[in-house]
Amino acid sequence: MLLLLVIIKQIGFIFKEYMYPLALYKVMKNLRENIFKKILNADMSFFFGKQYGEILSRATNDIEAFKSAMILIGVDFFTQLFTVIAMVGVLIYRDWKLFLIFLFATPLFAISFNYFGEKRKKYSQRVQESAGEYTQFINQLLYGLETIKLFSKEKILSVFESINERFFKNQRKNALYDVFFLSSIEIASYLAAGGIIFYGGVRIINGELTTGDLFSFLSALLILVNSSQILQRGLIQIKAVNPVIERIKFLLDMPQEKEDGIEFKGLKEKIEYKNVSLKINENKILEDVNVLIRKGQKVGIIGQTGSGKSSFVKLLYGVFRNYEGKILLDDVDLKEYNIKTVRDKIAVITQDVFIFNDTIENNLKIAKPDATEEEIINALKKAKADFVFRLKDTVKTAIGERGSSLSGGERQRLAIARIFLKNPDIIIIDEGTSALDEETEKYVMEEIYSHFHDKTILIIAHRLKTLEKCDMFIVFENGKVKEIRDSLNAKDSTRS
Ligand SMILES: Nc1ncnc2c1ncn2[C@@H]1O[C@H](COP(=O)(O)OP(=O)(O)OP(=O)(O)O)[C@@H](O)[C@H]1O
Ligand SMILES: [Mg+2]
Repeated sequence: MLLLLVIIKQIGFIFKEYMYPLALYKVMKNLRENIFKKILNADMSFFFGKQYGEILSRATNDIEAFKSAMILIGVDFFTQLFTVIAMVGVLIYRDWKLFLIFLFATPLFAISFNYFGEKRKKYSQRVQESAGEYTQFINQLLYGLETIKLFSKEKILSVFESINERFFKNQRKNALYDVFFLSSIEIASYLAAGGIIFYGGVRIINGELTTGDLFSFLSALLILVNSSQILQRGLIQIKAVNPVIERIKFLLDMPQEKEDGIEFKGLKEKIEYKNVSLKINENKILEDVNVLIRKGQKVGIIGQTGSGKSSFVKLLYGVFRNYEGKILLDDVDLKEYNIKTVRDKIAVITQDVFIFNDTIENNLKIAKPDATEEEIINALKKAKADFVFRLKDTVKTAIGERGSSLSGGERQRLAIARIFLKNPDIIIIDEGTSALDEETEKYVMEEIYSHFHDKTILIIAHRLKTLEKCDMFIVFENGKVKEIRDSLNAKDSTRS
């Protein structure tokens, strides 16, 4: 019997200490995967005006907080629930009159639970917000460290200290309200127990009850009080985990891009912007843009900084979807196409190069997952990324987070190599060669022009030399098209 009991107890122990956390880890794994997919397929407008660090924190700190709270609530919560129900049954059966006194304390429990529960909810949310602020700031610090070192350390430290102080204060309040709550329910329990002892004593004096009866009642009551304290502790955790769940849900509910619509099979004739306007958070970014680009044209886009050049091209690959007017690809509005199929036909090089912590090869393969080594080497050569061949492991070299081991121009050349792997119909270069020296830029542009000689190319550049070969120029000013012309120096042709 004893052996059997030991085995049963061990099974219970394994369940409690392993299976329950295991189930939680599974939930967390699924959550992480879901959040990753949601972000990957998110409608870009979700991110406008939001801070990435805040989103990052929800995807990390909040999932962790959820797990910790669930561990605290624990399997005990369920066993105690049964104990409480069983003990209430025992007490009512033993002496319902005595038990009635205990019930008088219930409103006290309820009031304390409500009051402190709300406080815990509030501060649990604040703790998560603080954790978010902290993550965000550390993130910014790491990415900006080289520059930050040139500025006042005291200032940046004092900003950090106030974030850290707020974090600490919120955690302290959290702990404080936990203690207040627990001690308040303990006081309520003792008041009830006092009442029972008093009433029980009176009944013993009157001969209605034996001392033994009262003590066995009190022992059962003690178990009940003990269990219900653990239960209430769990309940208050459930209240506190609520805002955490809300914050995670916010990520899970982020609007997703629809992947329905007509398949875009490639540009046949033209791209046409008809009365296109774009607003983001009530700010006018583009206004009444009318442009016709024929297939195969090489279009230079110029204008002062902030005039809307990047926004103009971003519309084409579906960064901004809430534009007014029409963007027609061969007479069909962009909104009617499956945006994924449009993106498959567009290659973009910008100033910010997306590079992840992996080998050069894998970083290029995101443009073409089944690219052969030969294709990759060819693409690198066309992009004049010769530096890769000088590395010890060439294309198998790992390049660190955000390409930290590469120079700006090297990163840009990898981005350029990617477009040679893709088979695009439209190529967008948004300051995409700005980090290259003039000679390299010239070489790379020649390669692009000859490789994609029959494709449509849109180039944004401040260096006008980059645009030499273009046959159409769109000049932007304050979000409007100021002028469309077919030569760089149309206005003063005498000087050209
Ligand atoms: N995601 C965004 N949210 C809010 N405002 C934006 C966003 N993207 C661009 N803007 C605003 O739109 C305007 C045009 O920006 P855009 O990037 O198109 O300019 P640009 O002509 O490419 O400038 P630059 O030459 O400096 O690259 C700017 O005032 C910018 O602040
Ligand atoms: Mg720009």
